[in-house]
Amino acid sequence: MVFGRGCFSQLDDILAERRTLSRGFMVFLLDDVFSEHPLKQNVPLQENDTLILVNVDDEPKTTYVDKLSADVKAYADNVKAQPLGVIGIGGGSTLDLAKAVSLMLNNPGSAADYQGWDLIQHPAVYHAGIPTLSGTGAEVSRTTVLTGPEKKLGINSDHTVFDQIVLDPELIADAPAQQRFYTGMDCYIHCIESLTGTFLNQFSRSYGEKALDLCREVFLDPGPDSDDKLMMASYCGGMSIAYSQVGVCHALSYGLGFVLGLHHGIGNCVAFDYLSEFYPAGVKEFRQMMDKHQIELPRNLVADLSNDQIETMVDVALVLEPLWENALGPDWRKIATREKIRDLYLQM
Ligand SMILES: NC(=O)c1ccc[n+]([C@@H]2O[C@H](COP(=O)([O-])OP(=O)(O)OC[C@H]3O[C@@H](n4cnc5c(N)ncnc54)[C@H](O)[C@@H]3O)[C@@H](O)[C@H]2O)c1
Ligand SMILES: [Fe+2]
Repeated sequence: MVFGRGCFSQLDDILAERRTLSRGFMVFLLDDVFSEHPLKQNVPLQENDTLILVNVDDEPKTTYVDKLSADVKAYADNVKAQPLGVIGIGGGSTLDLAKAVSLMLNNPGSAADYQGWDLIQHPAVYHAGIPTLSGTGAEVSRTTVLTGPEKKLGINSDHTVFDQIVLDPELIADAPAQQRFYTGMDCYIHCIESLTGTFLNQFSRSYGEKALDLCREVFLDPGPDSDDKLMMASYCGGMSIAYSQVGVCHALSYGLGFVLGLHHGIGNCVAFDYLSEFYPAGVKEFRQMMDKHQIELPRNLVADLSNDQIETMVDVALVLEPLWENALGPDWRKIATREKIRDLYLQM
């Protein structure tokens, strides 16, 4: 990994080592929010490289990954060259697209075939991640979260992890305040869920405590180096859950995402606000952060949903067994009953 203000300018040198074939090219996946931004001009494109503007209005779907992978293969046939690397530049959604496309260039079938744990057969092509939002920890995790035809579930594998990350705090400086808050709270909630979970070990605790301290500084006592801190908080928070798990909030947020299309960061915030019984201190502090940043959460989101849709949300949440077990221990089923989860959703 490289870290530091302005380090994006090192990307060309970093990729030079990977340009081992004369008939090879790099694929840059850039969040289309930057289509008119100077960052686009600074992407170090070389001859034969291709830059694809990706749209993340919807969080990544397996169908979108399949389309992007097919486009890259068609491009490779066209220029008679081989993809040497996939570089994702954007928020967690774009990072996940880059991970997934790099996997699907070397594995047959659809991305939906690999949603689950350790189903990937062949290593991905080289892939690098460059965040423009901080909080998800997607830059360090071994998953790419995808919505498929039946489920919202990651492709979890050792091959999913980026080969290289470039953490340049200048790239998150212009993120809209609300989005920055929601994505930042993803990190804060990772820390709370990891540190209060039953899976906690010293590895997770060490990274989780550091990430939590940094989140507190960024959101309660901001200063000129807040972007640097938030970027490292996201990294440490991601490392913390790598060896533990998230918990109740993330399980509920996946249900909200699947049925309502609510994005991960905001979905987490919506759910977390109703979880004082599970995370009393965390929710209290989260509300202080919301006050300080004048955040108004959307309410009454489930009011117009059908019974079937609410049941689907409960199903999606309950599939995430490791999350419940981390939060509530081996007897979690006695606490997280369908009725209990339904009641929580109905409050949202
Ligand atoms: N792989 C993992 O471990 C992991 C973990 C948590 C979340 N996720 C995934 O990450 C996604 C959420 O990521 P996110 O919260 O970073 O947001 P995002 O990538 O979904 O982006 C949110 C919005 O912000 C815009 N944006 C991004 N960077 C910007 C910038 N610098 N300036 C202005 N606008 C910018 C995007 O275009 C988009 O409209 C979800 O798809 C979630 O499933 C993955
Ligand atoms: Fe998260």
